[in-house]
Amino acid sequence: MKVLILETADTAQERVVSLIAQTMRDKPNAVLGLATGGTMLPVYEKLVALHKNGGPSFRDVTTFNLDEYVGLAPEHPQSYRSYMNDVLFGKVDINLQRTHLPRGDARNPEDEALRYEAAIAQCGGLDLQLLGLGHNGHIGFNEPTSSLKSRTRIKTLTRETRDANSRYFRADETIPTFAITMGVGTILDARHCLLLATGAQKADAVAAMIEGPLAAVCPASALQLHPKATIVIDMAAAAKLKLLDYYLHVHPDGTAREVV
Ligand code: F6R
Repeated sequence: MKVLILETADTAQERVVSLIAQTMRDKPNAVLGLATGGTMLPVYEKLVALHKNGGPSFRDVTTFNLDEYVGLAPEHPQSYRSYMNDVLFGKVDINLQRTHLPRGDARNPEDEALRYEAAIAQCGGLDLQLLGLGHNGHIGFNEPTSSLKSRTRIKTLTRETRDANSRYFRADETIPTFAITMGVGTILDARHCLLLATGAQKADAVAAMIEGPLAAVCPASALQLHPKATIVIDMAAAAKLKLLDYYLHVHPDGTAREVV
């Protein structure tokens, strides 16, 4: 696990954008795993700005999002498909046919999960999986006690996750109870996992993910098993790390220290 600690949320987002751009430069037809949520909004904003200012093209990129709410059609304003179209896909030169999210309105969500998992494999797997972090340690919608070997499937959202996401729904709207999410095992199959967490409210989950025991109760701790996991955090999110000084020594300002 590479732990990159940046001073502010802004510089942490910039680092994530530059790592995504690097992947796209190295492999113009990269398969990117994408995330939604509040943490990612400024990331996509910066990625779009970079793209418009001579950054890498999305023309040959394929994307698979982590998750979608069961019951929401793609056109629903709170669907993750709408989120992605609004903040990224509609603003770059991506071929929409190559952007994938699970269908929340599939007649049989379980079959849809299997189809989605197979579609990722058919594209040769994920080159880079972008991840946010839930306050409870979830990645994707793999809530605490998700199997660390799980594949794409239906998960019941915790009350905490539904409360956290209620800010996006109108008061008269029902917040979905279930989601289709890539499994922890699906995520771990990505060739590079890149997680961003910012703000003091994520500090407990960050500490559990990096320094806690490998445990299904904190699904993000499964990243400890990944051969190439990059965790980008700001100082506020890093506040509860016991080995903070060590991470800052290894990667001052989130850079890679030269071996001399
Ligand atoms: C969203 C997702 C979730 C979020 C997590 C953090 O696609 O997979 O795991 O990344 O809930 O959400 P925010 O960034 O809103 O705190």
